[in-house]
Amino acid sequence: MVTKVLSGEKAIEEGARLIQSGEVVAFPTETVYGLGGNALDPNSIAKIYKAKGRPSDNPLIVHVSRVEDIDPLVKEFSEINRRLVQEFMPGAITLLFPRSELVPIEVTAGLGTVGIRIPSCEVARQFISACGVPIAAPSANASTRVSPTTAGHVLEDMDGRIPLIIDGGECQVGIESTVLDLTSDIPTILRPGAVTAEMLLSVLGTVKTHEGEVLSSAPAPGMKYKHYATSVPMVLAESVNSLIAEYDEMSGRGLKVVALVRSESVGSMQGRNYIDIGATDEEVCRNIYKIMRDAEKEYGYIVCIHLGFEGVCASVMNRLTKSAGGKVV
Ligand code: TXA
Ligand code: MG
Repeated sequence: MVTKVLSGEKAIEEGARLIQSGEVVAFPTETVYGLGGNALDPNSIAKIYKAKGRPSDNPLIVHVSRVEDIDPLVKEFSEINRRLVQEFMPGAITLLFPRSELVPIEVTAGLGTVGIRIPSCEVARQFISACGVPIAAPSANASTRVSPTTAGHVLEDMDGRIPLIIDGGECQVGIESTVLDLTSDIPTILRPGAVTAEMLLSVLGTVKTHEGEVLSSAPAPGMKYKHYATSVPMVLAESVNSLIAEYDEMSGRGLKVVALVRSESVGSMQGRNYIDIGATDEEVCRNIYKIMRDAEKEYGYIVCIHLGFEGVCASVMNRLTKSAGGKVV
C-alpha cells in the first residue's frame, strides 16, 4: 500500500472518503497525531489495531467535533461531566463515560466505559466533521514507540500500512491528552497530560493523581505496557552535575552519548553532545517526543535532565520516567 501525505482541504476530503469506505487515516490533533477509523465500524477498528500492532485489550479514545455528538455515545451524561466538558473541551482531555450500545465493544476492549475527546486542533475537527461519524483513534505510532508529533514521524512508523496521513504541521501541545475517570468514586487521572490536576481541581473537589509508576494492574489498561520507549537506552539525571557525571562515564565506556538539557544549562555542556529541549515548560512539552526521536537516530545513549513535577512537567515526567524504565542518576 502507498501511504500518501496530503495537507489542506484536499487532504480532509480524501480522508473523509477513506474513513467512509472503512479505511484508517492518520490526522493531526493538538496533542499528538492520531490513527483514525470509523468508531461505529468493528472492521475499521480491527484495521487500527493491526496497523499499530497494538494489543486488542487496550481501548481506543473516540473523537468527536461537537459536544452534541457525545450524547448518542454515552449512557449517562452526569452534571460533573457536563461541567468538565464546558470548561475543558475542546482541549487536551479525555473523559470516560458509561458506554452506550452504539459503541462497539472492540473500541472499548470490552470495558463498560468509553473515553471521549474533542480536539481543539482546527484540522482535526474539520476532518472529524467531514467524516460524519465519530472517530476512534489511538496515537499514530507503532505500538510501544514514541507518539508522533509531525506527519514525518507518522510516516516513519506507518509507511505502507495506511493509505493517508493528513499533514497539519507540528502538534502544539506535544504529549497525549489527560485521561480522567469519573466513573470511579474519586475522580482519577489515569494518564496525566496538559490539563493538570491543579486545573481539574478548579471544577472537581478532589482528584486522585496518577503517580507515574508503572503498575501491574493499573486502571488504564495502556499503563501496564512498555510505552514511550526510545530505541536506545535512556536515563534521567537529577541535576546537571549528575547528568555530566553519567555522560562522561558512559562516553568513557565508548558509547555515543547525548544530553537532553534545558536552554539554561546549555552553557555547562562544554564540548559534550547535547540537545536543547527548550526554555519554558510548554516548549519542553511540545518538543520532547520529536527530540527523543531525533536523539535515538544519532546516539547510542540518552541522558535527560529531570524536569521536576511543577504543572505540565509532571505529565512530561510521567512519559520520561517510562522511557527511562524508572532509571534516575
Ligand atoms: O491525546 C490523545 O489522547 C491521543 C490523540 C490522538 O487524541 N490519543 C491517544 O490514544 O493517546 P492512545 O490510544 O495512544 O492512548 C489512550 C489511553 C490508553 O492508555 C488507554 O488505555 C486509555 O487511554 N483509555 C482509553 N479508553 C479507556 C477506557 N474506556 N478506560 C480506561 N482507559 C482508557
Ligand atoms: Mg499511544
